[in-house]
Amino acid sequence: MSIEWSETDQAAGVSLPAAFFYDQSVFERERLRIFFRSWHLVAHVNELRNPGDFVTHAILEQSVIVTRIQGGELRAFHNACQHRGNRLIDAPRGHTPAITCAYHAWTYALDGRLRGAPRTECLKNFDKSRHGLKPVRVEVLASFVFVNLDPEAQSLAEMAPGAEAQMRKYLPDLDRLTLIEQVDVPVAANWKVIQENSIEGYHFDYSGPVHKQLVKLIDFEGYKLEEHDKYWTYIGPPRKDVTHAYGLPLDNARWQTDWFFNIGLWPNATIYAFPYSDVVGTFIMNPTGPETSSLRFAYYGVEGRGLPEVTKACIRWMNEELGPEDIRLNISNQKGLRSMGFEKGRYIIGDSLDNRSEHLVRHFHRLCHEAIRS
Ligand code: FES
Ligand SMILES: [Fe+2]
Repeated sequence: MSIEWSETDQAAGVSLPAAFFYDQSVFERERLRIFFRSWHLVAHVNELRNPGDFVTHAILEQSVIVTRIQGGELRAFHNACQHRGNRLIDAPRGHTPAITCAYHAWTYALDGRLRGAPRTECLKNFDKSRHGLKPVRVEVLASFVFVNLDPEAQSLAEMAPGAEAQMRKYLPDLDRLTLIEQVDVPVAANWKVIQENSIEGYHFDYSGPVHKQLVKLIDFEGYKLEEHDKYWTYIGPPRKDVTHAYGLPLDNARWQTDWFFNIGLWPNATIYAFPYSDVVGTFIMNPTGPETSSLRFAYYGVEGRGLPEVTKACIRWMNEELGPEDIRLNISNQKGLRSMGFEKGRYIIGDSLDNRSEHLVRHFHRLCHEAIRS
């Protein structure tokens, strides 16, 4: 078993060795060098609209609280009481005037300052201002809220120049979104296996009947997959003759875009819209171990306006048909990577970087490899 990816292999278009998808030491390096240093999508700004609103977000064993403070700013903190370290909030979201620890009732303001700590008056030199919650970086990109555990990380805007403009072009209602549903699906596959599957169109023609339905909704020959360093887009133009989508006629339907739009942000978040549906989807590939992940699917509709029937059908189709078809591939891919009979393969990349090319997979592998070796 090798966890080396030689320059010769890379130059020859040989893919990242299989051990990268199950080895414990690779996973440990990813934990520290990828997940503890990169931006994590936690919510849409409208999930934190009012002062006192909060969400929590897990990054492996770490947990972060994001709050909206009086005055309107967002703040983020490590989810640990500064007395004896108790986890402060278990709920994924909620509303609270202050954060009170369930152990000995230390109470923190929404901006992290320690406000009350019973019995500390008996201490000679206890300075409350030195025991506030430990801050975490928080930023907003295109109305989505991200956190980063690395105080030195480059900003999101520096990391992904042009990403917001791309999103605004295809998703006109980005600022008016409201969460409709969010589910976490455990999958027995390494997070990179799942990412690879979502960033290539090579499998669309071959991997099952639902993918063929997707191909029929777009001008698949015009499907373009583009790498931009720490983000990537994969976008399919509409087909002129489409009258039905997801089993329903398009008459009177409304949508964000008639294109198939996807943007991936390093390392594990995708924001997308399926053609003819009036929702924005987010898809986050959270690792839970070297060979297990938790996929978070969320759908956001436009505030104050109901979902068209075609959109509801699209969400059903995503959850019950396309998603499971891909997840079956993820699981069988993981099993095969574990085989003694597989070590590495070849990227299928021709000169044209066309709709069936695996160049985004190679790009993603290079980013992972660079981060792991750093
Ligand atoms: S651990 Fe939180 S108050 Fe004691
Ligand atoms: Fe797929």
